[in-house]
Amino acid sequence: MLVTLKIKRFDPERNPSSWWSSFTLEADPADRILDLLVRAKDELDGSLTFRRSCGHGICGSCAVRVNGTNKLACKTLVHDIGSKIVLEPLLGLRVEKDLVVDMDPFFASFRSIKPFLINGDPLPANGRERLQSPAERMRFDDTTKCILCAACTTACPVFWADGEYIGPAAIVAAHRFVFDSRDHGAAEHIVALAEAEGIWRCRTAFQCTTACPREIKVTKAIAEVKGAILRGEAR
Ligand code: SF4
Ligand code: F3S
Repeated sequence: MLVTLKIKRFDPERNPSSWWSSFTLEADPADRILDLLVRAKDELDGSLTFRRSCGHGICGSCAVRVNGTNKLACKTLVHDIGSKIVLEPLLGLRVEKDLVVDMDPFFASFRSIKPFLINGDPLPANGRERLQSPAERMRFDDTTKCILCAACTTACPVFWADGEYIGPAAIVAAHRFVFDSRDHGAAEHIVALAEAEGIWRCRTAFQCTTACPREIKVTKAIAEVKGAILRGEAR
């Protein structure tokens, strides 16, 4: 089948404004959007710029807007979209070039919740592991699946309106530690969430949940962290 790939372009060294490029490619319905991007760059326009790394839905590098919805280019098939494919960079983050956005503010929010296990207690008698039951492990299983692709945060209307909002991805990261029975640092994880641009900016818009390529129940996780803070469990 013939596919038209319409891509929003930006290159501050060539043009201060963005423009659109269209590429027509022969494609198989089972081709991934990432396959088409690679072919367009290799065969038609070497200046086309996008991020990719693993190509298998694990690294989170290739999140883009596909026909108006955030998706991973490596997990989205031509068959899922059709023959007219429109690609834009993620919204709410500064565009550096074409489909590449500046991820620094996103990762700054992620770092602000201290995304690591905090437990100053001596190691248990076995000297190696802090044990937990299967039920304790399942309590935060969903949020361990996050690949930091930013699809959720850049689908959030609160983040579009106010780029200082900490965003759902950082709250998902906090959830992964606040509900981990081995972690004793909930109070430290939620410091940034309690600030003016923190968790209380969330208006339960659910677009983060819809956008997540890992099918994490993002809005549910946010509600659980809010509840833990209100009940004083995250202190
Ligand atoms: Fe991506 Fe989902 Fe993690 Fe958000 S919660 S960064 S959409 S994997
Ligand atoms: Fe935004 Fe998700 Fe809350 S889309 S408003 S973070 S539920």
